[in-house]
Amino acid sequence: MNVLVFADPTAASLHIVDEVSKIVRERPEVVLGLATGGTPTDVYRELVRRQQAGDIDLSGVTTFNLDEYVGLSPEHPQSFASFMRHHLFDHVGLSVDRTHLPPGRCDDFSAAARDYEADIARHGGIDWQLLGIGDNGHIAFNEPGSPAGSRTRIVQLTAETIEANSRFFDDPRDVPRRAITMGIGTILEAKRIRLLAFGAQKAAAVAAAIQGPVGDDCPASFLRRHPDVTFVLDRAAAGRLQREVGANPES
Ligand code: F6R
Repeated sequence: MNVLVFADPTAASLHIVDEVSKIVRERPEVVLGLATGGTPTDVYRELVRRQQAGDIDLSGVTTFNLDEYVGLSPEHPQSFASFMRHHLFDHVGLSVDRTHLPPGRCDDFSAAARDYEADIARHGGIDWQLLGIGDNGHIAFNEPGSPAGSRTRIVQLTAETIEANSRFFDDPRDVPRRAITMGIGTILEAKRIRLLAFGAQKAAAVAAAIQGPVGDDCPASFLRRHPDVTFVLDRAAAGRLQREVGANPES
């Protein structure tokens, strides 16, 4: 795996945006896997800026998001569907049929999860996947204890994740307790994976993922089984890495 360390979140986000821009220029119909949360918002802002400046054209890409809260409709302001429309989709000429998120509401979540996997497969798989990481090492909503081979499914969120995500809700009691998420096995099938992490709060999870044992205590550690993974970090998130085994500091 590769580890890139940048001076700050802006430089790290620009690295990601440059890579996406290059991929989309080479292959306008690329299939992108996308994440929500605080970490990727600068990436989406810059993609929107480049789209509006005519530097890139995202209108031909297909997107699959990692996860959605169970119980929230796509119109709910705190749903990940709303997040994506607000931060990216509404500003880059992406038609709704090119964007995909697992449903937060439906009659049969098992069928919906199977359909989501089938939809990804029908598009030829995910070419490039963006991830964040939870303070507890989760990727998507695969919390500690999630098996390496897990697929899209309903999961229970940990108290730690509910607490971390309560910052997006007016009332912390409104944070959903369950989510529908791509599995670790689903994520590992993406052709390229880029994990973005910022801040000292992520340093322990990042160090566990890169230098700890590979196992379900830190779901992100399973990424080391993938042939094309890059961790893109700011200095604070890289703070606990031992230089000799890891990071190539940049800028
Ligand atoms: C979001 C997701 C989560 C977040 C993670 C970090 O779609 O799947 O795994 O990437 O919880 O969240 P932030 O970026 O808010 O620190």
